[in-house]
Amino acid sequence: MDLGFADKRVIVTGGSRGIGHATVQTLINEGAAVATCARGAEALEAALAQWQKQGGTAYGASVDVSDSQAFARWFELAVEQLGGLDVFVSNVTSKNEYSGEARWEQAFEADLMQHIRATEMALPHLRKGKDASIVYIASIASIMSANMPTETEYGAMKAALISYASQLAHKLGKENIRVNLLSPGPIYHKNGFWQGVEKHQPDLYKRAQALSVFNRLGTAQEVANATAFLASPVASNITGINLRVDGGTIKTVNF
Ligand SMILES: NC(=O)c1ccc[n+]([C@@H]2O[C@H](COP(=O)([O-])OP(=O)(O)OC[C@H]3O[C@@H](n4cnc5c(N)ncnc54)[C@H](OP(=O)(O)O)[C@@H]3O)[C@@H](O)[C@H]2O)c1
Repeated sequence: MDLGFADKRVIVTGGSRGIGHATVQTLINEGAAVATCARGAEALEAALAQWQKQGGTAYGASVDVSDSQAFARWFELAVEQLGGLDVFVSNVTSKNEYSGEARWEQAFEADLMQHIRATEMALPHLRKGKDASIVYIASIASIMSANMPTETEYGAMKAALISYASQLAHKLGKENIRVNLLSPGPIYHKNGFWQGVEKHQPDLYKRAQALSVFNRLGTAQEVANATAFLASPVASNITGINLRVDGGTIKTVNF
């Protein structure tokens, strides 16, 4: 199936590794022009060089999305380089190393506020774009009451993100801008969270595996495939959904 990305201009935040990296690679394979960012310059530059070597149109520079002024400058430059914006994939999360109230503030910034800030930056451009759509990467942690203790704040903020995006989908429908979310279950990738769990907490890793009906963790490519579909014009009648990519980890009926 041709997803219709050949003439599309896309921003994906956090594309230097993991789900963001797989998403950029997938969109480039589909013919989109993509701009991405990360804080760490080395991994980002290596990824950009790889995509450009493949003949892809890929732009990027390092920036911290929680630095609102620097991020706004980055966003405008990215849109300028792309020549406009049709699709925005809001993917970033950041490791939370705080405790107490500061931990909640960090989660609010990383898992909610920066998505909203980025959306405000994207919207004026998406309104001028073609087949415009937004995809947020949420998490099944948003609907689990038995999360790992370290995911309390993360899960609550991802739940807020789902509420925000669902309301946005309703508001933007009349402007023909689609808004969807994707909620991965545990995803294994190089230098990712679950690689660390596999090494340091093998029992927890096995429990996460066993929750999937396939008895394995998901891959970044599986998330990227679903993201590309939801973001694409092929999904033209789909808006306001939260698609789980979790191998059946959540054991509820999904109406
Ligand atoms: N992996 C999973 O099991 C899983 C499960 C459910 C949901 N998710 C969601 O999927 C998304 C991606 O997860 P992932 O596992 O691929 O994450 P990851 O491995 O931590 O990668 C995050 C990406 O974002 C960049 N980034 C982090 N903080 C940033 C900041 N403040 N400013 C700019 N860039 C920043 C990182 O690069 P730098 O560190 O260099 O900045 C990296 O490129 C997240 O929204 C996450 O919540 C993941």
